[in-house]
Amino acid sequence: MSDHVIIHDDGPVRTVRMNRPDKKNALTEAMYEAMANAIEGASGEPGVRCLLISGTRGVFSAGNDLQEFHHAATTGAGLGTSTVRFLHALARSQRPLVAAVQGVAVGVGTTMLLHCDYVVAGSDARFSTPFVGLGLVPEAASSLIAPRLMGQRHAFSLLVMGRPLDAATAHACGLVNAVVQPDDVYSHAMAAAREIATLPPEAVAVSRRLMRGSPDEIVARIDEEVGLFKQRLMSTEARTAFESFLSRKR
Ligand code: COA
Repeated sequence: MSDHVIIHDDGPVRTVRMNRPDKKNALTEAMYEAMANAIEGASGEPGVRCLLISGTRGVFSAGNDLQEFHHAATTGAGLGTSTVRFLHALARSQRPLVAAVQGVAVGVGTTMLLHCDYVVAGSDARFSTPFVGLGLVPEAASSLIAPRLMGQRHAFSLLVMGRPLDAATAHACGLVNAVVQPDDVYSHAMAAAREIATLPPEAVAVSRRLMRGSPDEIVARIDEEVGLFKQRLMSTEARTAFESFLSRKR
């Protein structure tokens, strides 16, 4: 298991904390694997009734590790198997997912939230999906879920134009449930997770299934995006963007 993800069960709530603050919690294959294991594993554990995904103080996640994207671009590998497993695990999670977001949530840091049932954001949160600017396409079924959740116009501005959302706008768009002081994010999210965990689990599961629609449809969109993403990763546009980030002078 990666040290960059900390899994902790606190009664009925399993917390999944991205813990690579020196790299703004940019996600590696090892981290995706640990997170996929935690989510998939919860389905077989009756004692775990809700998952809480969080980052570290002041940062949720800077999205996929761009070094790994660059490697995938040069080898033609496409998204890693653990990345895809993680996305499938989100779509097929049998347990409600709560997220606690402080600071930046970039790329998959934002699109994973579309799979969450309840999202608490700090007033410092900033959501962005710079896929197209990096020569890529949206992933994690965001091309399907975001227009449904926030409408075509907001989704286009976010996913294609790459315009960030601040916490208040994300709240107005329906991406987050509540905006609180940054220091209060985790406790609010934990209170919501505990509240969900006290509800009758079978009724929660059936209600969730009705509301979320077909996981197969979502997984099919993830896979369609993965195919296109692989092509885009190998494009000159994407390689140039990765090299520009990795060689930037600050
Ligand atoms: N992949 C790999 N490393 C990343 C990263 C990523 N996605 N995001 C940040 N890092 C690393 C930086 O390279 C830097 O490492 P270093 O200290 O060894 O040089 C460290 O994390 C801190 O990042 P920095 O850019 O200095 O922090 P910041 O607060 O100024 O900016 C971000 C934070 C998230 C706005 C900025 O890092 C960024 O834009 N990252 C890229 C996000 C992205 O495009 N993700 C892919 C989406 S598909």
